[in-house]
Amino acid sequence: MKVCRRETFNAAHRLYNPTFSDEKNEAIFGKCNNPNFHGHNYTLLVCLDGEIDPETGYVIDLKILSDIIEEEVKEPFDHRNLNLDCPEFADLIPTAENITLVIWNKLRQRLDEKYTIELTLWETERNSVYYNGK
Ligand code: NI
Repeated sequence: MKVCRRETFNAAHRLYNPTFSDEKNEAIFGKCNNPNFHGHNYTLLVCLDGEIDPETGYVIDLKILSDIIEEEVKEPFDHRNLNLDCPEFADLIPTAENITLVIWNKLRQRLDEKYTIELTLWETERNSVYYNGK
């Protein structure tokens, strides 16, 4: 059984690798390499795969999941500049892939191991990343 919670957050970023030349950063990251940053409206779908607890009828109380996402994702990342404000990305390029990995690791520390965590992060309406720990 899988239960899901969808959240949104807005954040700015710049994609660049400091070891690359300006030309190479421009070639690889394009518009996302804009030196003055730019924003995305991210949508995050968090799904937990697990068994129904016969005593509650829940896989997990989604209020608990919502509170964890609030603390681990929205408070640190919403309305932030990921490169400048968030130590998680001090040495990590804030691509959708790496944002998803960071969030997955944060949630993994907060949720019982009995749950499989599946994340889908949309950076735009058309581009998304999926990660389930492997
Ligand atoms: Ni971007």
